[in-house]
Amino acid sequence: MTEWLQTAVFYEIYPQSFKDSDGDGIGDLQGIVEKLDYIKGLGCNAIWMNPCFDSPFKDAGYDVRDYKKVAPRYGTTEDMRRLFDEVHRRKMHILLDLVPGHTSEEHPWFQESGMDGVNAYSDRYIWTDNWFQRAEGLAYIAGERERNGAYIINFFKCQPALNYGFLHPQEDWQKPMDHPACLATREAMIDIMCYWLEMGCDGFRVDMADSLVKNDDEVKSGTCLVWKDMLGRVRERYPQAAFVSEWNMPESAICRAGFQMDFFLDWSGNGYNLLMRDYDDKGRDNSFFRKDSTRNIQDFLKEYLPKYEAVKEKGMYCLITGNHDMIRAAYHLDEKELKLAYAFLLTLPGAPFIYYGDEIGMRYQKLPCKEGGYTRTGSRTPMQWDNSKNHGFSKADASQLYLPTDSALDAPTVEEQQKREDSLYHTVREILEIRGKQEAFARHDNLEILSVEENRRSFVYRRGNLIMLCNPSGQAETLELRLTESAVIWLMGAVETDADRCTIGAQSFAIYRVV
Ligand code: NOJ
Repeated sequence: MTEWLQTAVFYEIYPQSFKDSDGDGIGDLQGIVEKLDYIKGLGCNAIWMNPCFDSPFKDAGYDVRDYKKVAPRYGTTEDMRRLFDEVHRRKMHILLDLVPGHTSEEHPWFQESGMDGVNAYSDRYIWTDNWFQRAEGLAYIAGERERNGAYIINFFKCQPALNYGFLHPQEDWQKPMDHPACLATREAMIDIMCYWLEMGCDGFRVDMADSLVKNDDEVKSGTCLVWKDMLGRVRERYPQAAFVSEWNMPESAICRAGFQMDFFLDWSGNGYNLLMRDYDDKGRDNSFFRKDSTRNIQDFLKEYLPKYEAVKEKGMYCLITGNHDMIRAAYHLDEKELKLAYAFLLTLPGAPFIYYGDEIGMRYQKLPCKEGGYTRTGSRTPMQWDNSKNHGFSKADASQLYLPTDSALDAPTVEEQQKREDSLYHTVREILEIRGKQEAFARHDNLEILSVEENRRSFVYRRGNLIMLCNPSGQAETLELRLTESAVIWLMGAVETDADRCTIGAQSFAIYRVV
């Protein structure tokens, strides 16, 4: 395992909305540099930055037009170099966002690929042999280009899929994975990764990492082989490079494809979603961390534990507070509920990821779609630094902002949260401080569940010499558990212990160290 990842705590930055340093209404790289001390002060030592490359921004930058050019709205290559240097000067690390499965339809490769006649990029994307040929099981577009064929898309219409081949090609137009054109796509992606690693980035969060090989099998054998080859070759040159996959199949991503980290993603109704986002379209919410929830932690554990156990010796199955694709947790959880949820997430194995603003409980805004965000747009609003103009995000006129700031009178800000000792911000900071000091948190194979019962909401788990107790419910609960040889090192709420039992107060969380 890459050494620095053992103790990594990530902060995700959506560059559009973090800090605007030049007053044009949109965030930029220099703005991020200005806030690195804030991120470090919170206790994060690593960053994942969403795509910042040249793009028409029909999907917020996940539609790349030039992989090697910084989008002018964020700055220049020089600004990127400065960002890498400033990050490293603070002993931090930074991952860029790699989009290997598709490009923008405006990428020059695709422009060439769509021309009539054969050229070097004809097979860089996946085309059928003629315009009325169907691509069974795959989304495709026809009627847009000169070329007599339909092309496969990976996500939105603006995102044609790059060609890494088919696991079992069945039609003439479906290339095998080792076809020279598919191998050329791999080379191009390796070249892009090495370009940024050479400049100083520390690795990549990989978008739709499972999407490369088409008509792949259930465990994504083809895509795993492609990654194994690409990651292996990149690591020969940059052995410390870190890769986290957007995949949520850690056995494939970590054990077969070679990623060090995979995310537990928010798939509707899954164990992760039930923790903080278990709401229906009528707005009813039964999320586990809601005080009045009827859920048991088993709903999460039964999905998490088998995957965790399968990969714990080889890599990290990572938990996130949220990200740019999901509704902010503060939509339905209040500050106390968020504190409990984060205390849990930040004390589990794997590198945690904090989405910008989640540490202060930024709220979800109901907004019209921006840059292909749709319902995600409301989780991408400007960071709320203080109560000055535009919450300190930008000096631009409010009408010029990338997205409007939260206009609520009690909108949380960094300034207010830092001043208030019992704020969410301080809970996150204190737990991360402990996380950084206790060796047990730097091992990622040591999770044990000590107490979970069907009809009880509270639960207890252990990591090495640390024992965590959590009761998200509104009533105190008593468990059979001997804690007398332990000392409490962090407490929210109340815990009482006697010889063989402990009572965890309503909405309480504690970390004990065995002495
Ligand atoms: C996942 C990204 O997180 C999301 O924001 C994007 O729209 C899709 N992949 C397509 O690249």
